[in-house]
Amino acid sequence: MRMSALFDEARAFIKTCYRELGKNEVEIERRLDEVRRQIDREGTYDHTFEELEHGARMAWRNSNRCIGRLFWQTLHLFDRRHLHRPKDVFDAVCEHLAFAQNGGRIRPTITVFASASRERAVRIWNHQIVRYAGYETPKGTVGDPASAAFTRVCEALGWRGRGTPWDVLPVVIADGDEIAWFELPLPLILEVPIEHPEYPSIADLGLRWYATPVLSDMALIIGGIRYTAAPFNGWYMGTEIGARNLADPFRYNMLPAVAEAIGLDRSSDATLWRDRALVELNIAVLHSYRKRGVTIVDHHTASRQFAYFERLERDANRRVTGDWTWLIPPLSPAATHIFHSGYDDDFVLPNFVRQPSPYPAPPFRVDPSMFR
Ligand code: ARG
Repeated sequence: MRMSALFDEARAFIKTCYRELGKNEVEIERRLDEVRRQIDREGTYDHTFEELEHGARMAWRNSNRCIGRLFWQTLHLFDRRHLHRPKDVFDAVCEHLAFAQNGGRIRPTITVFASASRERAVRIWNHQIVRYAGYETPKGTVGDPASAAFTRVCEALGWRGRGTPWDVLPVVIADGDEIAWFELPLPLILEVPIEHPEYPSIADLGLRWYATPVLSDMALIIGGIRYTAAPFNGWYMGTEIGARNLADPFRYNMLPAVAEAIGLDRSSDATLWRDRALVELNIAVLHSYRKRGVTIVDHHTASRQFAYFERLERDANRRVTGDWTWLIPPLSPAATHIFHSGYDDDFVLPNFVRQPSPYPAPPFRVDPSMFR
């Protein structure tokens, strides 16, 4: 980025950030002078801890696809900007996971590593820190088909999984062109076996999911600075697991098995066996996480929390942006207020952005024939 463009971005951020933090105009001008001088000298500038913390929280607040934004101010920051070597990054990732999982009482957390502007760019190649491998076999995929391309990358790097549907992938970290992979210690990874409060046959399917979704492939952009490795997590909304990860025909595709397990009539689409299986699977997910003491939210509660977020934002004179197609839950969307509302999908900074895949990944396409 050109130096003047960088300063413009920095200025816009510092002003908004400092006003939100209740600082006065003198403090803002003093800080802007400092930032300008550092940019002149070094071509970049460093955020203070406070700027990074509030900037990351603003990025969550501006995440148009996230229904959980009410809690943006609780985001916990691990400032690891001094780290870029893969082993050091991995150790910090483990610390992040342990802190965030917190024995099940999940804490929204972000760890920020060296920014692209100073060190060689650090990238975590995983989509999420914990994810299940997907092995392509002639008889179809074992595990999570969404991980198939990345699983092949891990194998090419020398990793070998056990070949079960629930193998946790290694963490792949690149510091410039130094690439290394690390196996997460198993006791560190909290998982939940899925069972239903009324149908024991659902437990027999052997389904499970991990406790904490830590997104690790997006860049965090604050005041013109791009953090290419900034893994972050919240807690799950039940439908992400019960109506998508375990249910999508191109993911674990479990609706037919769930329907069989609870004895639904699959002779015609019109018996709505898919819909009934979806509801029971989602009941099972929510029940199982609660039973194990792992934080999870149902989509009705999450929608009410989002309505409260919208009100607080309006009271603070801020515009709420959103991506309706992502905000509506995939189960019973019209039973939430979000379905009946409209949102501007404007991109506001600071924010999280997708970045080019560091490994060749085939473009993802949905094949309609999978839905038969
Ligand atoms: N939908 C993704 C998954 O099922 C996780 C996205 C982030 N979700 C969250 N609750 N913070 O793994």
